[in-house]
Amino acid sequence: DEGRQLVVAVDGPSGSGKSTISRRVAQALNARYLDTGAMYRAVTYAVLRDGVDLRDAVKIAAVAEGVHLTIGTDPAAPHIAVDGVPVDREIRGAEVTGAVSAVSAVPAVRALLVAQQRQIIAEAERIVVEGRDIGTVVAPDADLKVYLTADAAERARRRSSENATNQAATAADLARRDRLDSTRAADPLRQAEDAVVLDTTTLGIDEVVQRLQHMLDKVMA
Ligand code: DC
Repeated sequence: DEGRQLVVAVDGPSGSGKSTISRRVAQALNARYLDTGAMYRAVTYAVLRDGVDLRDAVKIAAVAEGVHLTIGTDPAAPHIAVDGVPVDREIRGAEVTGAVSAVSAVPAVRALLVAQQRQIIAEAERIVVEGRDIGTVVAPDADLKVYLTADAAERARRRSSENATNQAATAADLARRDRLDSTRAADPLRQAEDAVVLDTTTLGIDEVVQRLQHMLDKVMA
């Protein structure tokens, strides 16, 4: 029916293919696309900009409260700005990547960003949302929940070809982030009970996108 909203939640660890797959599915659906990882990265950028100690949760929370995030939701052209300054390139750098797990573990940061994410979702007719806690926390009523996985070695291979960095260092960094992201007390990376699990180690991107489109055709019928 016409007025019905469609929310697709895509969760999984880094290098599982979340971003590529989420953007492709959003484009196919003519939907919006929300990269929640970019929001945690943007707050981390502000924390580093302000020279805040990564062990100081109170100051980190204060930065998150004071910062103004602008996030674009066009799947063809994702965009994010911090206090009006575009930071699309900066948030993918090694400094932000190395600090984001510490920042995203702060409960007050999560509470703020989850509220903003829910607001963006509420305003969209159709939206694909990617992250770590979308199916479990941000949008537990999503129409389709997908949990993407892939072998650690394959995920490291994908990340190092993206960043042109050393594969062993990338593998170590991914393992460290996975551990921090899955063991933190506040909203850890976790598979929702009602999520469809897809392993992208052996399935190609195209095949995953096709399978999801097939599932969505059923959901929308
Ligand atoms: O998807 P990504 O690599 O850009 O995410 C960056 C970090 O942000 C990741 O280490 C975990 C955190 N994150 C989170 O805690 N919750 C989300 N919904 C999305 C990302």
